[in-house]
Amino acid sequence: MKKITSRVLVFVLMTALVSVCMGGDLRKKFYEKSCPNAETIVQSIVWKRVSIKPELAAKFLRMQFHDCFVRGCDASILINSTAGNTAEKDSGANLSLAGYDVLEEIKSALESACPSTVSCADILALASRDAVSFQFKTPLWEVLTGRRDGRVSLASDVRGNLPSPFSNFSTLESSFSKKGLTVHDLVVLSGGHTIGLAHCNTFSPRLYNFTGKGDQDPSLDSKYAATLKGICSPTDTNTTVEMDPQSGTNFDSSYFTSVTQNKGLFVSDAALLTDRGASNIVKELTSQAKFFTEFGQSMKRMTAIGVLTGTTGEIRKACGKIN
Ligand code: HEM
Ligand SMILES: *[C@@H]1O[C@H](CO)[C@@H](O)[C@H](O)[C@H]1NC(C)=O
Ligand SMILES: *[C@@H]1O[C@H](CO)[C@@H](O)[C@H](O)[C@H]1NC(C)=O
Ligand SMILES: *[C@@H]1O[C@H](CO)[C@@H](O)[C@H](O)[C@H]1NC(C)=O
Ligand SMILES: *[C@@H]1O[C@H](CO)[C@@H](O)[C@H](O)[C@H]1NC(C)=O
Ligand SMILES: *[C@@H]1O[C@H](CO)[C@@H](O)[C@H](O)[C@H]1NC(C)=O
Repeated sequence: MKKITSRVLVFVLMTALVSVCMGGDLRKKFYEKSCPNAETIVQSIVWKRVSIKPELAAKFLRMQFHDCFVRGCDASILINSTAGNTAEKDSGANLSLAGYDVLEEIKSALESACPSTVSCADILALASRDAVSFQFKTPLWEVLTGRRDGRVSLASDVRGNLPSPFSNFSTLESSFSKKGLTVHDLVVLSGGHTIGLAHCNTFSPRLYNFTGKGDQDPSLDSKYAATLKGICSPTDTNTTVEMDPQSGTNFDSSYFTSVTQNKGLFVSDAALLTDRGASNIVKELTSQAKFFTEFGQSMKRMTAIGVLTGTTGEIRKACGKIN
C-alpha cells in the first residue's frame, strides 16, 4: 500500500518537474500576481481604438496569424527592420498589416504599470481577441498567457511559412499541418475572413486570367465575379474589397455561407470545398454558435504555436525593438 502511494508520488513529482523543465505551459491569468491589471489595460485601450477604427479588428486578427505561423507566437511580426536586418513586417506578404502603433501604446501603458513583465506576444494575443470581441462587448474566447518575446525577425522566413491565397487544398493542409494544426483548424480559422479587406491582386487572376488563357475561375460564382470585375481592373494592386461580401465588418458565420455559395474570394477559400471532409466542416460552421465555439478552440491552438515560455526569449521593453 505504502509502496504504491510513494510510487504515485514520485510519478507526480517527476511529471511536475518535467513540465517545469520544459518552461511551463501557457496558463490562465499568468499575470494575476505580477501585473493584475494587465488584461484590463489591454482591453480598455483596444476597445477605445477599435470603437474609432473598426477595421483594426481585422488587422490584429491577421497579424496574430502571421505572427504565429512565422517562428511561433513570439511577436516577431512586431519588430522593426534595422540597418542590418529586414524584419518580417517588411516582407512582401506584409500587405496592409496595421495597428502597430496601438500595440506600442498598450506596451507603454503596461511598462508604466509593471515594467518588463508583460510580453508583446501576450499583448498581441489579448489584443486580437479583444479587438474581434469589441462588437459583442464580451471576450469571445479565452486567451492563455505566459508567452515570451522572440529576438529574431527575418523577412526571409515569411514566404515559406505563410500560405498564398492561390494555394490549393493540399498546400493549405500541409502548411497548417507543419504548425501542428488540423484540417478542422484550417477550415475554422479561415473563418477569420469574415472580417476585413483584400487587395484586388490577391484574387484578380481568378477573374481575368485563371489558367493563363484570359479565362475566369469556373468555381467562382459568375454574378459575384462580375461584381468584382466592376471593382478591380486586371492590373489594379491598390483597391480593396470586403472579403465577406455580406458583412465585411461583422464577425459572424456568413463567411461559411458565402463559401458554400461559391463566393469565397481567394482560391484558398474556394479550395475548402474541394476536399470532402473540409467541405462538410464548412457546412457545419454556417451555424454561428458552432463557429464561435470552434473559433475559440482553434485560436487557442494557433496562439500556442512555437511559444517561448519560462526563461526563454525576453520581455521586450518596446514591441518594435529587441532589448
Ligand atoms: C488559410 C490560409 C490563409 C490565406 C491564404 C490567407 C490570405 C489572406 C490574404 C491574401 C489576405 C488579404 C490581404 C490584403 O490584400 O491586404 C488576407 C486577409 C485577412 N486574413 Fe487571411 N489568410 C489565411 C488564413 C487566415 C487566418 C488563419 C486568419 C486568422 C484567424 C486570417 C485572417 C485574415 C484577416 C482578418 C484578413 C483581413 C485583413 C485586413 O482587413 O487588413 N487569415 N488573408
Ligand atoms: C512592406 O514591405 C515593403 C518592402 O517589401 C515596404 O516597402 C513597406 O513599407 C512595408 N509595409 C509596411 C506597412 O510595413
Ligand atoms: C497543389 O499545389 C502544389 C503547389 O503549387 C502542386 O505541387 C500540387 O500538385 C497541387 N495539388 C493538386 C492536387 O492540384
Ligand atoms: C495571362 O497569362 C498569360 C500566361 O501567364 C500571359 O502570357 C498573358 O499575358 C496574360 N494575359 C493577361 C490579359 O494578363
Ligand atoms: C492607391 O490608393 C491610395 C489610397 O487609397 C491613393 O492615394 C493612390 O492614389 C492610389 N494609387 C493608385 C495608383 O491608384
Ligand atoms: C518602429 O518603426 C515605426 C515606423 O517607422 C516607428 O514609428 C516606431 O517608433 C518604431 N518602433 C521602435 C520601438 O523603434
